[in-house]
Amino acid sequence: MGSCSKHLSRVLFGGIQAMKGQVQYEKRKTKDGCVAILTMDNKPVNALSQGVRVGLDQYFKEVAADSEVKAVVLTGAHGVFCGGADISEFATGVEGPMLGEVIAAMEASEKPVVAAIDGVALGGGYEVALGCHYRLASQRAQAGLPEVNLGILPGAGGTQRLPRLVGAAKSVDVMCRGAPLKAPKAAEVGLFDRVIEGDHAALIQASVDFALSMPPVAERRLGRGTADAADAALAAKRQEYAKLRPGEAAPQAIITCIEAAVKQEFKDGMRVEFQEFCKLMTGAQAQALQYMFFAERQCQKVPGLDAKPRALQSCGILGAGLMGGGIAMCCAENGLKVVLLDVDQKNLERGMSVIKKNYARSVERKSKSQAQVETILSKIHPCSNYEALSECDIVVEAVFENMDLKKKLFAQLDAVCKPGCVLASNTSGLDIDQIASATQRPEDVIGCHFFSPANVMKLLENVRGPRTGGETIATAMAFGKKLKKVTCLVGNCGGFIANRVMGVSGAAKVLQEGVWPQDIDAAAEAYGMRMGPLRMWDLVGLDLFGREREKSGVLNPEQVVFDAMYKAQRFGQKSGKGFYQYDQQRRHQRDPSAEALIQQVWSNTGVQPKTMPQEEIIENLYLPVVNEGFKCLEEGMAIRASDIDVCCVFGYNWPRYRGGPMKWAFTVGLPTVLQKVEQMGLTPSELLKEAVAKKWKMNSKDFNARILSAWTARWPAGKL
Ligand code: CAA
Repeated sequence: MGSCSKHLSRVLFGGIQAMKGQVQYEKRKTKDGCVAILTMDNKPVNALSQGVRVGLDQYFKEVAADSEVKAVVLTGAHGVFCGGADISEFATGVEGPMLGEVIAAMEASEKPVVAAIDGVALGGGYEVALGCHYRLASQRAQAGLPEVNLGILPGAGGTQRLPRLVGAAKSVDVMCRGAPLKAPKAAEVGLFDRVIEGDHAALIQASVDFALSMPPVAERRLGRGTADAADAALAAKRQEYAKLRPGEAAPQAIITCIEAAVKQEFKDGMRVEFQEFCKLMTGAQAQALQYMFFAERQCQKVPGLDAKPRALQSCGILGAGLMGGGIAMCCAENGLKVVLLDVDQKNLERGMSVIKKNYARSVERKSKSQAQVETILSKIHPCSNYEALSECDIVVEAVFENMDLKKKLFAQLDAVCKPGCVLASNTSGLDIDQIASATQRPEDVIGCHFFSPANVMKLLENVRGPRTGGETIATAMAFGKKLKKVTCLVGNCGGFIANRVMGVSGAAKVLQEGVWPQDIDAAAEAYGMRMGPLRMWDLVGLDLFGREREKSGVLNPEQVVFDAMYKAQRFGQKSGKGFYQYDQQRRHQRDPSAEALIQQVWSNTGVQPKTMPQEEIIENLYLPVVNEGFKCLEEGMAIRASDIDVCCVFGYNWPRYRGGPMKWAFTVGLPTVLQKVEQMGLTPSELLKEAVAKKWKMNSKDFNARILSAWTARWPAGKL
C-alpha cells in the first residue's frame, strides 16, 4: 500500500498562474487494485475556486482514460472536505468550468467515486459529494447546504440530487434551514452512507477499501429520474418556511426547485434550478446576505492590533440578575469556569434558580441532554465574597446602570483581581473611561456590552476607551470568539454603536405627526424587523423613559404621546397595556383606550391622523439611523461602515437580508439619503456629505480609508 511510483503524486495548477486553489493527485496501488485519491486544496476551507474546478475537471478526464485506476476517492486538505463555492467570486464573476458541469462529469464516471468527508462539506462542497456515488465521513464531519443564508440556493444540482437521495421533505429542511448537520444526524438523514471511526488516514483507508469493493457504477447516479413524491408535503413546507424565514425569497425558490425534482425529469429540474438560481443571485437579498457573510467576519479584525490575548480560562461575573445570569450561561456553555458573584444572597439564589430553570426547559425541549446541563452547571460557582474573583482571567460587571455604583465596584475589583485580569463592564452606554478612572489600571478596563438575553443574542460590542490597552482589547476580542459571539470593537461614546444609532429611529416623531402605532409597526415588520418600534417600546417598558423625563421636569403628557402613555400608567407589557393591550400570553391587540389617548394628544397639538405609505414610514424611521451611523464613523467610533450593520443586525435583529442600515443607505443612494435627511430637519453628518460629494461607493477603497483614518485619529495606534 501507500503511494506508488515516483511520478504519480502530483498537484495540478491548471496551467494558469493566477488561479486560486488546486487539486492534489495520488495514485495509490493496493493488493486489490489501484485508486486515484484526489485532494481539493485551497486554504483555509478548500473553497471551489477556479483552480479547484479546473483540477477536478482535468483529473476526472485523466482517471477515466487510465485503465489501471479502478476507483476514485475524493477528499479535502486542511482537515476540511470543502466549504463550498468561493463566495468572493460571486462579486467578481466566475471563470473556468462551471461547478455543475464538473459534478456532472464526476457523476458520469463508471468507476466508483467515493467522497471521503472529514471536517465540513458545505454548499457546493456537499454538492460535489452528491456527485460522488458514495459518501463516507469521519466522526467529526458535518454536511449541509447553507446557501439559503447567502440568499441563494444550491445551484450545482443540489436541489435536484438531494431529493433523489433523501426524499423531498427532508431536503426542504436541510436546504431551507441551512444549518450544517453533525455526522450522526447527517447519517441518520441520509447525507452520509457511513461514518468511519478514527483519524483522516483511517477515513482515507476505509474509503479506498470501500471504493475497490464496489462494482462499476450503474445505479448510484442521483442525476436521473424523478424524486420520491410520497413524502412531498411541500405546500405545508412553504407555509412553515414563510413563517420561519419571513420576507426571504430563497426558501420559497428552493421549494419550487424541489417540486420540480418530484415532478420532472432531472434535466428539466436542472433547468428550473438554473432559472431560480439566476433570479436569486441577481437580487438585492443575495447581495445583502453575501455582504453580511464577509461583514460578520471582518468585524472581528482590529487593524493595527499586534498584541496577543492573555490566557482565558475563568470568568467572574458581578451581579446575578438577568444580564449576569445570561452571561454566566454563555461563558459556562463555552467551557469557561464561572464565578457568579452577588453580595445579596437572595439575588444570588434567585439568579441561580433562573439559570437552572432555563436549563430544565432546554432538557424538556431536548436541545440539551441532562448530562450536558450538569456539566455546564458544574462550571458555575455562585458566591458572595469578592475574594472569589481573585484568580479570574476576566471579570464582567453586570449590575444596573449607575455610574457611582459602577465606580465603587471597579475600585473593589481593582483591589482583589490579579494583575492582568481584564476588568469589563457590561454597561449599555455609560462612559468606560470614567469607570476606568476608579481603578489604578485603566489599561485593563474595557466595555463588554452584551445584548439581552445574553445567552441568545449574537452580538458582543467591545468598547474601548482612550486608555484601554492592546492586550486588553485582544483578550476581549478572544473572549467574544470563545463565547461564539459576533464581536465588534467600537469606541466609547454614549450608547456605543447599536443603541446609539437605533436610539434615534424616527418612531416617536412619526407617531407625534399623526400616524397610528399599528401602521408604524406594520411598516417596520413588513420591512423585516422582528417587532415594530412601538411594540418594542411596550416590551422594554415605557416607564423607563417616562421616569427619566419626569425626574428632569420635562414630562408633557398633554403634548407628547409617550408622556401621555406614562402618565396613564400604560407602561407596556409589564402592566398589560401600553400602545397595545396584552393578554396572559403577551399577545398584543389594538386598544381603543390607548388610541383615544393618542388622539387626544394629536388634537391638543393640532395634528390630524393620517395614513403614510409604508416606504415613507420606513424612511422616517431609519434614515435618522443611517445619519447617526455616518456620525459614528466620522467621530472614529467604528472601524468600518459594515461594523455598524453588524451591530444592528446582531444586536437589534435588523433583517439580515437588507444588510443593515449602512448597506441599505447605499441601496437607496446616498444623494437621496442626504436630501431626505435634510428635508427631515436633521443635521446631516459631515461624512455623509463628503461621501455624496466624492461619489463614494460602499466598501470602496477611499471610503474605507477615510473611515479608518477617523478611527486611528481618535484612537492612535501607538496606544494599542
Ligand atoms: N468562499 C470564500 N471564502 C470562504 C468560504 C467560501 N465558501 N468559506 C469560508 N471562507 C473564508 C472566510 O471568509 C474566512 O476568511 P478570512 O479568514 O479572510 O476572514 C475564512 O474562510 C475562514 O472562515 P471562518 O472564519 O468562517 O472559519 P470557521 O472555521 O469558523 O468556519 C466554515 C468555516 C464552516 C466553512 C464557514 O466559513 C462557513 O460556513 N463558510 C460558508 C459555507 C457556505 O455558505 N458555503 C456555500 C457557499 S455558496 C455555494 O456553494 C453555492 C453553490 O451552490 C454553487
